[in-house]
Amino acid sequence: MNKWIMAGTAAAFTGAAAFARSEYERIHLDIVHYDIKTDKLGLEWNGFKAVFLSDLHDNSFGMENEELLAAIEKEQPDIVVIGGDMLVVKEWAAPHFDMLANLYKKLVKRYPVYYAFGNHEQRMKEEPLTYPGWWQSYWKVLKDSGMHVLVNKSEEIIKNDTAMRISGITLPRECYRKGRIPSLSAGYIDKKIGKASDKNFELLLAHTPTFAKTYADWGADLVLSGHFHGGTIRIPGLGGVMTPQLQFFSPLARGNVTQKNTNIIVSGGLGTHSINVRLNNLPQLVVLTWKTH
Ligand SMILES: [Fe+2]
Repeated sequence: MNKWIMAGTAAAFTGAAAFARSEYERIHLDIVHYDIKTDKLGLEWNGFKAVFLSDLHDNSFGMENEELLAAIEKEQPDIVVIGGDMLVVKEWAAPHFDMLANLYKKLVKRYPVYYAFGNHEQRMKEEPLTYPGWWQSYWKVLKDSGMHVLVNKSEEIIKNDTAMRISGITLPRECYRKGRIPSLSAGYIDKKIGKASDKNFELLLAHTPTFAKTYADWGADLVLSGHFHGGTIRIPGLGGVMTPQLQFFSPLARGNVTQKNTNIIVSGGLGTHSINVRLNNLPQLVVLTWKTH
């Protein structure tokens, strides 16, 4: 056989195998557990559990996300937190609001749910001419669901005399562009949600981990981010190849990093868009358990 035909055949088989593996990974969950140690919360918080969802991008685990709901139920969390980009807002995309509304209703029936925005929710809101009617419809879904929607807003959970403040911030749209990304100061977060408190445990939902240092400067105890989809394809020893903002081998693509006293946990996300590939990079359901003694 001609060597070019052999090489072409091998490449076609490799491509088909990679495609099949990616299709498998995109609908199979990895449950990732982290312990959150803090002395800012009292003993009654010990064992408090949150499940973190991010970047679902209209994906469904099972016909109606029943596999995702079952995985959450198995963890028996006290709260569910959502880090944004639950849908795909692109000119070529169709809205899947009914599917998401069903998911949110089922979640809210069982848990308090806190929802912060990603760049896709922001795009839908800020570009009404490109996405006519989307924002009004989706906002109705969010409000009707009974979730705590945290758009530059905070809410506290208090147990005896210690409190966790959960805050969601939106970032300037240029923070999400491909290419040169502007800097962001902690003052920006001060303006949106006020200063961090020394007393409360500050849980900050910030969609992109790009500004990890800023979140630490602001004074977050724990930051939950997503957005980078784990880097699309993960290579052992090198990490995630590419983020949706075309950053290559970002150390923030997935996992846990610490800045000062701030713990930053980045979910690999639950879905994909545009480049619908996941290799060695299963969708992640992140489970957090607080340890306070
Ligand atoms: Fe995103």
